[in-house]
Amino acid sequence: MKIALGNDHAGYEQREVVLRVIEGLGYEVVDLGTFSPEPVDYPDIAEAVVRKVLNGEADRGILICGTGIGMGMVANKFPGIRCSVCTDEYAARMARAHNNANVLALRGREIDKAVNERIVRIWLSTHFEGGRHKRRVDKITTLEEQIAREICGKD
Ligand code: RB5
Repeated sequence: MKIALGNDHAGYEQREVVLRVIEGLGYEVVDLGTFSPEPVDYPDIAEAVVRKVLNGEADRGILICGTGIGMGMVANKFPGIRCSVCTDEYAARMARAHNNANVLALRGREIDKAVNERIVRIWLSTHFEGGRHKRRVDKITTLEEQIAREICGKD
């Protein structure tokens, strides 16, 4: 599996932890930085990561900003992206098992590295359960298609 990773300056300190887990699980990283604590704008980084997932250069994406919230907002603008902002292990497990999340947004500030480490490990290792959850996730896709048609004025 290939994982696209992106962080802004507020996520810079936690990126090593995430890299370690991804590589420890034997996955490949598509590392989109940023590579220093110099300020950058989180929408640019989130866009770069989700485009890698959408064009198939990565299977999943992981984003880190101060809260995970801004990155998560950007990622979920893209049809086909199901981004889960996770600040605890339960959310990480359920985001995969029930929601088939393909992008994870992490909080980079005011959180222990050990917590993010466990979140990433769980999120990368948990399989989608399918079944009734597939029916519900499929409804998200249907909504995306419906909204796109409405925006294009075809409905
Ligand atoms: C940057 O200061 C911060 O606003 C950003 O990392 C993120 O938390 C936004 O949601």
